[in-house]
Amino acid sequence: MPFQDWLAVCVKNVENALNKALPEKNEIPEQLHEAMRYATLGGGKRVRAMLVYAAGKAALQQGANSGSYGHSLDRAAAAVELIHAYSLIHDDLPCMDDDVLRRGQPTVHVRYGEATAMLAGDALQPLAFAELASMPIAPALVVQAVQVLGRVAGSLGMVGGQAIDLSSVNQTLNQEQLQFMHRLKTGALIEGSVLLGAIVAGANSEIRQALETYGSAMGLAFQVVDDILDVTADTQKLGKTAGKDANENKPTYVSIMGLEESREFARQLHEVAITAIKPLGESADRLKELADFIVHRSY
Ligand code: IPE
Ligand code: IPE
Ligand code: MG
Ligand code: MG
Ligand code: MG
Repeated sequence: MPFQDWLAVCVKNVENALNKALPEKNEIPEQLHEAMRYATLGGGKRVRAMLVYAAGKAALQQGANSGSYGHSLDRAAAAVELIHAYSLIHDDLPCMDDDVLRRGQPTVHVRYGEATAMLAGDALQPLAFAELASMPIAPALVVQAVQVLGRVAGSLGMVGGQAIDLSSVNQTLNQEQLQFMHRLKTGALIEGSVLLGAIVAGANSEIRQALETYGSAMGLAFQVVDDILDVTADTQKLGKTAGKDANENKPTYVSIMGLEESREFARQLHEVAITAIKPLGESADRLKELADFIVHRSY
């Protein structure tokens, strides 16, 4: 199947799972549920979901492909997209990046008010863990999945990265500090997505190690490219306000290394990721295509 068709299938599957996981709009409190659905179902590249599916495929031992495996991957993919959607709602709030546009639409707080936006983000988080807890796989694997998502989404992962990001406005970070921030705020959830795919597929420790190296390199690369696109792409294409980092005086890869060096760094991380999954052979083809997509994307 061509990569684009495979992506379309993944998007359809994760959006079906999200649609089922989210309470209906007419469920009380209606505005809260409408805001949760608005934030989660209104587009997005679904890169984290695709990483769950592609890592699951790469890690699956031969013969283990059962119906419950596919169903569990859908739930894991939905879980990471729920955490991601919550992080975007909160990232856009006036107390954080103060953005009015996301995925080509008004941000959740612009549309529903700040209190509802905060609560919608709050409610998406436990829903993500409930999705993992409902995966029809061995309970020990469910526990591992919950542990991984808890770790990568929390104060030693994404939330910690956001805290460092906010305290770095108007500061000069060195490359090591910048890398640390990026690995936490974006890298952690991307690495977690890859690990969840591996866990659901029951990967052995060798495969997990390879996927962890891949996830860690692609996680950092993802934010390096996000920093580049903030400078080189336009608002229409991005679906969010371009030039925001420079306006807010945020330290980014571009502000610290310059555009060309940032591009080179993204290429190097791509190489690290590809090298890590080589031993997995053809089963890791989708992961390779996703690495290409993440580094060469234009939005
Ligand atoms: C944007 O993530 C926020 C970052 C962590 C850089 P994405 O670029 O994956 O956003 P969507 O989901 O496609 O809108
Ligand atoms: C967001 O980073 C990271 C998280 C939401 C965890 P950015 O602030 O750079 O993301 P965008 O550019 O607003 O999408
Ligand atoms: Mg931010
Ligand atoms: Mg932002
Ligand atoms: Mg950004």
